[in-house]
Amino acid sequence: MHASPEAEPVLEIANLSIIYRGFAGDVKAVSNVNLALRAAEVVGLAGESGSGKSTLAYGACRLLRPPALITSGSVTYRGRRAREPVEVLRESPEGLRRLRWREIAIVFQSAMNALNPVLSVRDQLLDAVTAHLHLAKAEALEKVASLSDLVGIDRSRLRSYPHELSGGQRQRVMIAMALAADPEVVIMDEPTTALDVVVQRDILAQVVELQERLRFSIIFITHDLSLLLEFADRIAVMYAGRIVETGSSKEIYHNASHPYTNGLLSSFPALHGPRRRLTGIRGWPPDLRSLPPGCPFLPRCDLGTPSCEGVDMHLARVSPSSSTHFSACPFVRAEGPGWRKGGAELKPPPTQNTGATSRGVQVPRGPGDQPSAGPLEAIGIGPGGTGSGGGSHDDTGFPAPDYPAAGS
Ligand SMILES: Nc1ncnc2c1ncn2[C@@H]1O[C@H](COP(=O)(O)OP(=O)(O)OP(=O)(O)O)[C@@H](O)[C@H]1O
Ligand code: SF4
Ligand SMILES: [Mg+2]
Repeated sequence: MHASPEAEPVLEIANLSIIYRGFAGDVKAVSNVNLALRAAEVVGLAGESGSGKSTLAYGACRLLRPPALITSGSVTYRGRRAREPVEVLRESPEGLRRLRWREIAIVFQSAMNALNPVLSVRDQLLDAVTAHLHLAKAEALEKVASLSDLVGIDRSRLRSYPHELSGGQRQRVMIAMALAADPEVVIMDEPTTALDVVVQRDILAQVVELQERLRFSIIFITHDLSLLLEFADRIAVMYAGRIVETGSSKEIYHNASHPYTNGLLSSFPALHGPRRRLTGIRGWPPDLRSLPPGCPFLPRCDLGTPSCEGVDMHLARVSPSSSTHFSACPFVRAEGPGWRKGGAELKPPPTQNTGATSRGVQVPRGPGDQPSAGPLEAIGIGPGGTGSGGGSHDDTGFPAPDYPAAGS
């Protein structure tokens, strides 16, 4: 079921800016970002490495440590269990402890490698359950067993140590840990990136099934936009610390407007459909310590002109008929099967998928629906960012205590 667009967001990020202080200058990792997550909604956050996805998510949960500094914004949580809205950036350490895991849980980037190698999976799940739910031992053990059922880990594997499990099984353990306290919001930071595509899809299908059954909301972070198209309700595309386009999955798929989004769409192969040439995005993301004036995508944009240096990057409606589709590029708008600006024309993104599902965009399955077997002509994604990854983790899976946000 879809979240109603009128419903008040369960998590509302407004005007959030985060920098990393450094001797060589401040890294503007997140700049004036607005993002709303509604109850039972899946919002996908896509963007190249280093675009600020993790910083945004961890900053919104106050999980960053110096040299990170929140310089502006607010984050409001309105869960069903919260008596009144919680202003996360002003919350006390005690309030944050209550909020994390119970209300907002995170599956961290590369989390499956953070499992304790000398404890069985059962003991680690038991730790998570007892730390947050205050259950008696027998009840906690029953909860661990039901969590393993929930994420599809055979109970007989609970006595295994992490090294005895496959990557997919370890990732399922991390998802089980995140769901241990029935949170209302789950942030998943690249939870399946290290896994092969078949396991990746298996886990995603299960996450969606759980999400629909338990009705929590998800912010799902990945650099793979094509993956999000299939199962997210809405997608926000980040570039250089800003959201440059946001819309429903169908809007992004059928009518992507921002040239960067179109570049991302032509950077990833789809699992199904005919072989196609991947054009990618030329060049590299900008140095976030010294951003060029105006649109930060200008050095890589085939449609850029000198007037792009005056663009203020606010998100504006892509078309008067949609109240959900916004782009930060004032010059290029999706116009059906082609994209025009002046005399220039962009090729539309590959569209081998057809038909719409209740969630995202469906990949057809049937005769002739073979995995793409061709070589990748180009993957134009730039260099790896440092991937903040959230710092060191304590035995609960969350990073060690954060520092107060600026002004709090
Ligand atoms: N501790 C840090 N100190 C300085 N700069 C940092 C730090 N952590 C991250 N950055 C910078 O902040 C920017 C955003 O990083 P972040 O990890 O949020 O990106 P990301 O989109 O999550 O990337 P990835 O897809 O690689 O995980 C990058 O330019 C990165 O180099
Ligand atoms: S503002 Fe200019 S440089 Fe930026 S995406 Fe639009 S056309 Fe390209
Ligand atoms: Mg990241």
